[in-house]
Amino acid sequence: MDTVPDPSFTDIRWFQSIDSTNRYLLDEARGGAPHGVVAVADHQLAGRGRLGRRWEAPAGSNLLVSVLLRLGLPPEARHLASAVVGLAAVDAIIAESGVTPGIKWPNDLLGADGRKLAGVLAEADLAGPQAHGYPPIVVGIGINVGWPLSDADLPGDLVGTATSLQQEAGRPVDRSALLHALLAALGPRATSLGTPEGRAEQASDLRRRCVTIGSQVRVELAGGGFEGMATDVTDEGHLVVATGSGSRTVVAGDVLHLRPAG
Ligand code: BTN
Repeated sequence: MDTVPDPSFTDIRWFQSIDSTNRYLLDEARGGAPHGVVAVADHQLAGRGRLGRRWEAPAGSNLLVSVLLRLGLPPEARHLASAVVGLAAVDAIIAESGVTPGIKWPNDLLGADGRKLAGVLAEADLAGPQAHGYPPIVVGIGINVGWPLSDADLPGDLVGTATSLQQEAGRPVDRSALLHALLAALGPRATSLGTPEGRAEQASDLRRRCVTIGSQVRVELAGGGFEGMATDVTDEGHLVVATGSGSRTVVAGDVLHLRPAG
């Protein structure tokens, strides 16, 4: 049987400069844009990070990309929408650089020594106007491709915390090839989120890549935090942490690795 090419992620809008590719796609979604639109920027003037932080990178150095997803996902499995972008980025990074990043829950990609290689930010507009049957989720990822080249490139508070593919691979990595590899890997992963079996498969891939499992962690939540040993990721992509008073499942939050796995 002939395979039908997946038409998603072929509408690629590349900006030399924009405030934020996530902001752009959220606005496009409000105007009715369909599943699969991609926005890429050479430079962002107001790049958004998780927890209200900024995401900064010198022009032309890193991959800054967002995708608009409209998926038939049960609300409790929504974390998998951002997880598949992280997993597709891992696929692409392995293919284009030979580096194998680990995933720190919820969705940071880490280099060999635990420094951050990439971050993912998912933003949903669940209350906004619906189009094409499903609510929009915009997932943006910033992958440090050519920057930082060393700690000397980093502001004081980030020294020792960030790395790039060029540092990890010991050679330059092509941003455009990385983008196309990421989008090619994302197509089937996003499609598979439409069935329970497919979701279980993506969660299993996340479990396999997740270096938080087996780590002693501190989980920061809006109303306080707690410590424990991360033991698993559920089929919805949530983190399971064993504490002195039993097991807790973390749906959203920030995690600090106190003692890494192994
Ligand atoms: C994090 O804080 O780790 C998430 C960073 C996400 C950055 C990306 S870059 C492309 C997209 N556009 C944004 O404004 N943010 C995301």
